[in-house]
Amino acid sequence: MLGPRCRSRAQARGAAAAALNAPRRVAAAQRFGRQAVQRRAAQAAAASLVLMVFVAAAAASSAARAVAAAAATATAAPPLADNTTGATTAEPLAPLEADGGSGGRSTNSSAAPAGGEAGNAMTTRGSAAAAAAAGAAATTTVPPVLRLLPGPCLTSAPNATQFEVFRGCAARAYGIPGLPDFAVYCEDRAQGRNVSYWHEIPLNLTTDPRVNGSTMWVTVEIPRGTNVKIETQTMWPHAPMAQSTLDGMVPPGSPRPLQRLRYYAAGPSLANYGGVPQTWEASDVPDGLTGLPSDNDPLDFIEIGEAPIPVGGVVRVVLLGALALLDRNETDWKLVVLSTRDPRVGEWRDVADVPPERRQQLYEFFRTYKVAEGKQVNRFVLPPDANTTSNATPNATSRPEDWQRAFFGADTAARVVRAKHEDWRRLLSPGGCDTPRCAPLVAAARTDGSIAAAAATTAATATGTGGNGTTASGSAGGAAGNSTAAVTAPAATLA
Ligand SMILES: *[C@@H]1O[C@H](CO)[C@@H](O)[C@H](O)[C@H]1NC(C)=O
Ligand SMILES: *[C@@H]1O[C@H](CO)[C@@H](O)[C@H](O)[C@H]1NC(C)=O
Ligand SMILES: *[C@@H]1O[C@H](CO)[C@@H](O)[C@H](O)[C@H]1NC(C)=O
Ligand SMILES: *[C@@H]1O[C@H](CO)[C@@H](O)[C@H](O)[C@H]1NC(C)=O
Ligand SMILES: *[C@@H]1O[C@H](CO)[C@@H](O)[C@H](O)[C@H]1NC(C)=O
Ligand SMILES: *[C@@H]1O[C@H](CO)[C@@H](O)[C@H](O)[C@H]1NC(C)=O
Ligand SMILES: *[C@@H]1O[C@H](CO)[C@@H](O)[C@H](O)[C@H]1NC(C)=O
Ligand SMILES: *[C@@H]1O[C@H](CO)[C@@H](O)[C@H](O)[C@H]1NC(C)=O
Ligand SMILES: *[C@@H]1O[C@H](CO)[C@@H](O)[C@H](O)[C@H]1NC(C)=O
Ligand SMILES: *[C@@H]1O[C@H](CO)[C@@H](O)[C@H](O)[C@H]1NC(C)=O
Ligand SMILES: *[C@@H]1O[C@H](CO)[C@@H](O)[C@H](O)[C@H]1NC(C)=O
Repeated sequence: MLGPRCRSRAQARGAAAAALNAPRRVAAAQRFGRQAVQRRAAQAAAASLVLMVFVAAAAASSAARAVAAAAATATAAPPLADNTTGATTAEPLAPLEADGGSGGRSTNSSAAPAGGEAGNAMTTRGSAAAAAAAGAAATTTVPPVLRLLPGPCLTSAPNATQFEVFRGCAARAYGIPGLPDFAVYCEDRAQGRNVSYWHEIPLNLTTDPRVNGSTMWVTVEIPRGTNVKIETQTMWPHAPMAQSTLDGMVPPGSPRPLQRLRYYAAGPSLANYGGVPQTWEASDVPDGLTGLPSDNDPLDFIEIGEAPIPVGGVVRVVLLGALALLDRNETDWKLVVLSTRDPRVGEWRDVADVPPERRQQLYEFFRTYKVAEGKQVNRFVLPPDANTTSNATPNATSRPEDWQRAFFGADTAARVVRAKHEDWRRLLSPGGCDTPRCAPLVAAARTDGSIAAAAATTAATATGTGGNGTTASGSAGGAAGNSTAAVTAPAATLA
């Protein structure tokens, strides 16, 4: 999917981000007084600076120069401020993504929304002068996080040679990545309507003989190598992809001030990341495995294949395993998955087959990624030890050395998906959940017709204990709400 041009730019951005964030990681580590973190941060700084030199020497392109300039600026920038009334001294960073968003309509900065985003430090055609001018007019601080925008390579359709692509709808981007109005909707062109990324794209969890494992559809929010925190907007009709704010997801129509848009401060995402359609991590009842309620969102996945996947891409993946992450005592499962067309399919059948360095890297990223945003490390609930009694309380850990035992295998991951699919059905069924956190989710699904689509799904699969499901006819796939999410077995309750 990525041409040589995309690839070298993505690499340059990744190197720059690592270099840029290294000093901040050190600062964060000092704040939290964690010696191990300090050591790793120092190593990362050294490694990424070496990589920077390599990239600069090898590429010597304008992109690389912009990257170096941005890194130099940012090294001197003040610490992360996510406070709109805070200090105002930070220089805006020169944009790195020279071509802006595509896949949608806007291809240059003059097409940016006119709606008066004061303090707009982003432009899409790499003009540092323009960025500085915009910054001069700013009244607020943009957090000094290097922004790795999904560029033209990553807001287009996934390459169908590299990915098994869902055909029921196609991502269409509106606005410019990094500006508050950016959103990606999944549009069913045949029917001329937007389809809900959350409720209408079928989960279709099946035992797939082609790969000897469970496969399902997933929806991509954050392409590997970028750090714009794009999320499925569960409170908006059609649940589009849009950038989160530091306050979390906001109801539709609420202001999304530029300076509070969220980026991964820890650096670029190490994997393609996103949500699992037709699943819900219930906020009103404890998770069957961790014993703690979940974060009210669709299940999250980490796709560890070799190619970046565009924002809003819907691709089929093999389930390999899972991490039971706890974020401030809320369960937030991270499923580990692999594109069904990745070269490793068949070789990696379970997360245990994934090289240890890769597993450790993923564990460490999700353990620490919020530290650079001023939060605590996350914890993980560990799979029950074979030597402990089955009814013992599961143990949670936040120790870096527990990475090896933290991953659940593919079978548990499939059980988690089935359980969360059942919770999603309950959410959308009458009286299923009437807490204040559920209400806006249900309201959005009612507004956009997703509830009707979900009801059709439920009816179609309710009888099947064998769960063979039906195959969607025509190109609309499950989007018409008449196909089924085939679940290979009845909902399993987690032990
Ligand atoms: C899609 O990927 C294949 C295999 O990597 C490549 O040969 C092809 O050129 C790509 N197509 C596009 C349109 O990028
Ligand atoms: C934001 O900054 C102002 C001024 O420094 C301070 O009074 C306020 O408590 C801060 N708010 C938050 C949420 O940090
Ligand atoms: C940018 O977009 C505007 C409005 O669509 C158009 O008039 C202008 O020619 C474009 N500029 C460039 C450099 O593409
Ligand atoms: C999808 O939603 C966007 C944003 O609201 C809207 O501009 C667009 O017209 C919608 N597409 C269709 C086909 O309704
Ligand atoms: C699936 O697994 C079985 C048993 O482990 C093995 O015999 C078979 O070759 C595998 N098939 C594929 C396609 O990997
Ligand atoms: C999480 O739960 C533990 C045990 O109940 C408690 O000690 C801790 O304070 C909680 N942490 C947060 C952030 O609420
Ligand atoms: C269970 O305990 C035995 C004896 O302490 C130990 O040798 C074995 O490795 C343990 N098994 C696991 C899965 O931890
Ligand atoms: C939890 O951890 C403690 C200390 O490491 C250990 O003694 C205990 O057996 C563990 N319990 C389970 C259920 O794994
Ligand atoms: C699905 O299940 C139904 C009823 O059990 C059966 O008649 C049908 O042949 C099955 N379809 C497939 C494709 O297995
Ligand atoms: C569900 O997945 C199977 C293959 O695992 C496929 O044949 C079927 O078309 C899929 N159905 C939908 C609605 O995507
Ligand atoms: C939905 O499926 C039913 C039964 O298979 C069929 O009669 C109906 O025409 C389908 N509706 C649409 C919109 O495809």
